[in-house]
Amino acid sequence: MRLNAWLARAGVASRRGADELIKSGRVTVNGQVGQLNTIVEPRDQVALDGRNLAKQGLAYVLLHKPAGTVTTAKDPQGRPTVVQLVDSPARVVPVGRLDADTTGALLLTNDGELANRLAHPRYEIDKVYVAEVQGEFGEAVLQKLRRGVEIEGGVSAPAEARRVGRGRIELTLHEGRKHQVKLMLAAVGHPVKKLHRPSYAGLELKGLAPGASRELTRVEIERLRRATGLVG
Ligand code: URA
Repeated sequence: MRLNAWLARAGVASRRGADELIKSGRVTVNGQVGQLNTIVEPRDQVALDGRNLAKQGLAYVLLHKPAGTVTTAKDPQGRPTVVQLVDSPARVVPVGRLDADTTGALLLTNDGELANRLAHPRYEIDKVYVAEVQGEFGEAVLQKLRRGVEIEGGVSAPAEARRVGRGRIELTLHEGRKHQVKLMLAAVGHPVKKLHRPSYAGLELKGLAPGASRELTRVEIERLRRATGLVG
């Protein structure tokens, strides 16, 4: 693993912050001053300002994101970030993003490899959304959503769509384009009033109140690793 990623995983700094520490010569690996291209092996001893650092373990947290929180690291408007809500000693970051007004299941982790794979369309990870929309709709609208609709960046990939109540549509997508659900529903003439994600990659919110989070179980982590080809 590159030294900057190692330092980020250890919770010392962001990757960019780690680059600065490395450039300033404050980081050593086995007593040698680390460089930007230094690779750290599991047995290596990394130190900052002469103090040995302990590598942090991998952490996986499921958050019930409440409305009004942002998925970015910092918000110019000063709204709380999802990272601030999650009380993890590890430096976890969100996998993908939800809009500030969207609620629901959000995974945060410091496992970069798993995060990249979960976000890759190739692994067809299910993202289930329930949207409250303007106007009543019929089967024709659901069919259009299933087949794909023209939105910014091209036609959406085939999806599952069903009616789950008056003015409520459940969509199951594998893609994760910016504002995708809102764009798709606006394109079929039913703008979103409220958006919730009850499930991400099979992880459900059961029992988690808005704003609450929990660590994934070993079984859940294994399931994600299997779903993304990290174990056979
Ligand atoms: N699609 C959207 O439009 N917004 C979200 O937050 C997630 C998916």
